[in-house]
Amino acid sequence: MEFRSARQAIMQLLRTVAPADLPALLEWMRTTRDFDEFTQDNNDIMLKNIAEDLRNCLPLETMLSSEHLALQKIQQQPEPTVHVDAFLYDEDFIDSLCEEGKMSRNYCMVCGSHQTAPLGFISHSFSLMELKFIYHHVLPDLSGKVLVDVGSRLGTVLYGGYLYSSALQLYGVELNGDFCQLQEMVIKKYQFTDRIKVLHADICTQGSLLQNADVIIMNNVFEYFLDEAEQARAWEYISHNVRKQGSLLVTVPSLEDSLSNLQINIQLSPWVEEVPLNYDVYPEKHIDREALEQIHLYKIL
Ligand SMILES: C[S@@+](CC[C@H](N)C(=O)[O-])C[C@H]1O[C@@H](n2cnc3c(N)ncnc32)[C@H](O)[C@@H]1O
Repeated sequence: MEFRSARQAIMQLLRTVAPADLPALLEWMRTTRDFDEFTQDNNDIMLKNIAEDLRNCLPLETMLSSEHLALQKIQQQPEPTVHVDAFLYDEDFIDSLCEEGKMSRNYCMVCGSHQTAPLGFISHSFSLMELKFIYHHVLPDLSGKVLVDVGSRLGTVLYGGYLYSSALQLYGVELNGDFCQLQEMVIKKYQFTDRIKVLHADICTQGSLLQNADVIIMNNVFEYFLDEAEQARAWEYISHNVRKQGSLLVTVPSLEDSLSNLQINIQLSPWVEEVPLNYDVYPEKHIDREALEQIHLYKIL
C-alpha cells in the first residue's frame, strides 16, 4: 500500500473507534514501543539508500586519489590487499560483484596457474552490523549527549547515530575535504542538518570539541592516514583533551593495539577503564564476530 492510501486507511480506522476509547488509543500510538520493529527497518533502509547514493559517487575501491599515504600503506601490506568499504559493500554485494567478475576474493599466486590465495580486505568504514552493535549494544541511551566521530570519512557513524540513537548533536571531524563534501551532500539530502555537523579539520585543532564530548568514536583513524610521528602526536593530543570524567571512548582496535608500535608514553590505567562488552548478542551464524571483537569501549576516569 502506498503512503497516501495507508494514511487514509488509518484515518478511516480511527473514525470507527468508540469515542470514549479514542484518547487511550491515540496515547498508545504516541508512546508505544510496538512500532519499533517498523521504524528500525526503515532506518536500515535509509542507511542502505545512503550507501547506494555514495556508491554512485565513488570508485569501487572507495579510495580517493587525494589519499596518497593510505593508498601507499595498502600497497605495502605483507599480502596483496584491497580496500573494500564495509558500509557500501556487504558480503552479499561482494559475492554478486565477484560473480559479475568486477571483484575477486582471491589473487593468483603463480601467474597463469590455478593456484590462488585469499586477498586481504581492509575497510575504512564500519559496516551496518557494526554500527547497529555500537548504538544498540555498546553505548547507553544518548539523550542529550554530544558525540564526536574522529575521522568521519563517509559519515556512517553520524548517520547511524542520527537514526539509531537520541544523541543531541553528532559531530564529524574529517581531514579530507572531498569526504566532507560527500557527507554534506548526504546530510542535506536526508535532512539530518538539525543534529549532524561536519568539520573539515585536523582533530588536533579541535581541543574544546573533544573536551566537551560525551562520546568519542575512533575507528582506525590514524594508522593508515598519518606517518608514525604524526600518529604519536595525534594520540598525545587525544589523551590530553579527552578528559571529561565519565565520558565514553569507543575505539577500533583497542587502545593497547593502536599505541603499541608508536614512540609514545601514554599511561592507560590513570586515564581510562575498559568496559567489557558482550560480543554474543547476535546468534546468527553469518555474523562477523571477529569484526565485532575489534570494537572496544572505555570510560574516562
Ligand atoms: C578509517 S576512517 C574512519 C571512518 C569512519 N569513522 C567510520 O567508522 O566509518 C579514518 C578517517 O580519519 C581521517 N583522519 C585521519 N587523521 C585525521 C585527523 N588528524 N583529523 C581528522 N581526520 C583524520 C581519514 O582521512 C579517514 O577518512
